Amino acid sequence: MNDLMHVQGIAKVYQKAHDQVDVIEDVHLRIANRESIAIMGESGAGKSTLLQVMGGLLSPSKGKVLVDGVSLYDVRDAQRAQIRNQKIGFVFQFHYLLPEFTALENVCMPARIARLHGYEEKAKTLLTQVGLEHRLTHKPSELSGGEQQRVAIARALMMQPSILLADEPTGNLDQKTSDQVAQVLFSLMQEKGALVLVTHSMRLAEKADKVYRLTKGELVLE
Ligand SMILES: Nc1ncnc2c1ncn2[C@@H]1O[C@H](COP(=O)(O)OP(=O)(O)OP(=O)(O)O)[C@@H](O)[C@H]1O
Ligand SMILES: [Mg+2]
Repeated sequence: MNDLMHVQGIAKVYQKAHDQVDVIEDVHLRIANRESIAIMGESGAGKSTLLQVMGGLLSPSKGKVLVDGVSLYDVRDAQRAQIRNQKIGFVFQFHYLLPEFTALENVCMPARIARLHGYEEKAKTLLTQVGLEHRLTHKPSELSGGEQQRVAIARALMMQPSILLADEPTGNLDQKTSDQVAQVLFSLMQEKGALVLVTHSMRLAEKADKVYRLTKGELVLE
């Protein structure tokens, strides 16, 4: 099987004081190279939780996530961090840019962490593709919400991930900018890799090859 990612029977239970929150119960998903999928579902259905489990950021209560055949939660933390840096791009629902760094520095960060050289030109190209060539030296507090979101998208694309996981990537954008950013995401990820989008927007979801709905803890193909 040449799946980029294989999600096998994932469950996630949050423990909150004496309460148990069963968010995801039994999720199965295979993602092939060059495939794009959209995940929809009501607020609170567990979409962000699922994406974090898929991205190696939150360990599941049950099940496995295989990335190129490697089980993400059965390897050491350092190896998981390396897989995340090199293979997985993540756009958070609430974009976590580093506040003391400029837009350009934020986009460069994953490459700096991986100790690569000559990445600044690539970062500028990505920022230009998301329409921010005039905001390179702005810090997050000097950017609008939608601009911060676009910086986060450029940062997620920086390492040319084989899988991009994007949680409401165009949630704060007007329709024109949203279409432009979606175009960048789809075209870059279709060349090489796979795209997983969580969205409430039917307009965005329709651009994906497959649309799933997360409901009652399970993923159902629409
Ligand atoms: N750390 C936590 N501890 C306990 N419960 C949590 C925790 N994080 C999330 N939850 C609960 O799990 C459920 C799923 O949350 P999640 O953020 O995955 O939903 P979502 O589908 O992304 O929703 P939205 O569309 O509003 O972003 C919610 O009911 C939430 O309250
Ligand atoms: Mg969410």
